[in-house]
Amino acid sequence: MKIAVIGTGHVGLVVGTGLADTGHYVTCVDLDEEKIACLQSGQLPVYEPGLEELVARNVEEERLKFTTEFSQAIRDALLVFICVGTPSTPRGDADLSQVYDAIDRIAEAMPGYRIIVNKSTCPVGTTEAFKLRLSQKTKQPFDVVVNPEFLRQGAAVDDFMRPDRIIVGCEDVRVEEIMKELYAPFLRTGKPLLLMSIRSAEMSKYAVNAMLAARISLMNEFANLCEAYGADINEVREGVAADSRIGPSYIFPGIGFGGSCLPKDLVACSHLAEEKGLKAHILDAVTAVNVNQQARFVETILAYYGHRVAGKRIALWGVSFKPKTDDLREGPALRVIDALLEGGAEVVVYDPAADANIHKQYGDRVRVVTKTYLALEQADGLVITTEWNEFRRPDYERMASLMREKVIFDGRNLYTAKTLREHGFRYFSIGRVSV
Ligand SMILES: NC(=O)c1ccc[n+]([C@@H]2O[C@H](COP(=O)([O-])OP(=O)(O)OC[C@H]3O[C@@H](n4cnc5c(N)ncnc54)[C@H](O)[C@@H]3O)[C@@H](O)[C@H]2O)c1
Repeated sequence: MKIAVIGTGHVGLVVGTGLADTGHYVTCVDLDEEKIACLQSGQLPVYEPGLEELVARNVEEERLKFTTEFSQAIRDALLVFICVGTPSTPRGDADLSQVYDAIDRIAEAMPGYRIIVNKSTCPVGTTEAFKLRLSQKTKQPFDVVVNPEFLRQGAAVDDFMRPDRIIVGCEDVRVEEIMKELYAPFLRTGKPLLLMSIRSAEMSKYAVNAMLAARISLMNEFANLCEAYGADINEVREGVAADSRIGPSYIFPGIGFGGSCLPKDLVACSHLAEEKGLKAHILDAVTAVNVNQQARFVETILAYYGHRVAGKRIALWGVSFKPKTDDLREGPALRVIDALLEGGAEVVVYDPAADANIHKQYGDRVRVVTKTYLALEQADGLVITTEWNEFRRPDYERMASLMREKVIFDGRNLYTAKTLREHGFRYFSIGRVSV
């Protein structure tokens, strides 16, 4: 099949490449000229494990192209995937301007019948609204499909190629058959393609993200209870994870969730409730616990220094919102860095992948180093904000010899208090007794 993918960000690039890899001809289009120029020159604008090789292979095989021209992308494509951003407005509801801009450009460029597949996470009812808009802007026939995306950054290629399920919200049997045909290569292990109404498909995406976020916030609430009562959240987590009704995913305590999805989707979903006169009690609480969790961690750090961090050199390991991505959006590390900078601290950061985005975000207000231990030289403390693998088993002797003050604030519970104490460190973690 010939496919156009509108929006070549974290989702669009993976979707376009994954579909090309099963033999389809895909053209990815984006308004960002720099991004498209970067892709056309064989570089990737984002860090995502395994993606570079996959893009290169499909470009080489002439199944994958990048352009800024809608007409070029849509000319021959039967399926047009929308993968543009849906960030929050200042009020917290979803900003759909990128989606509507994409719709208008598709309408203008459509030379005949097209199937418009929406992968952007949008409030329930959006697809009906954009269907109406399309019909006002073009005389060409079309069908619409909602096909929410569940990939996780850092594991996006694998998640897209081996999904737990595919959800398709659709009103036409013929289109359903096309979607089944499209996704058949991804579902060979028997995972289901679930057909449902357009509104149910839109709601499913919010429900999944809310459920995942709720697990994290609930464990963080228990982490705080553990601290208050002298229990150890890591032990508690093992007890919880072993329950087959619960399982081990998304119950790691820490400094809260970030990223471009969970925080904004929760708030957008609360707005959906509000619009219908409902109160989203749990959704609001999940967000509140998350905000509080980040604030608590910042407070632990500041309190240690008596709220006087001016002139202190603080090292930070990991700035991306989670490991194996260079994405900083809504990352808990940003809250920590902002608070330290506001207090006048010198912040020295090391992240394995996110240097370019750190520069974009902070310019020269933070010092970025390119080696793990360089960040620790003469540091008055180390803050761990992202659990990259390379931080898990560090050389404690070397750390101790480099740091001016031996204190670690571990937002991801990577170490044990006993080991850190043996090496002479003060150690603060989440939901465990500090030493
Ligand atoms: N990032 C994730 O892990 C993830 C997972 C599942 C679903 N989603 C959802 O998928 C959607 C896309 O997320 P993302 O993280 O890829 O966003 P992103 O910001 O990384 O990428 C969006 C891209 O769309 C481009 N764009 C904006 N308006 C455009 C237009 N009118 N025409 C063409 N291109 C346009 C932007 O330049 C950008 O490159 C969002 O709705 C998000 O909630 C994201």
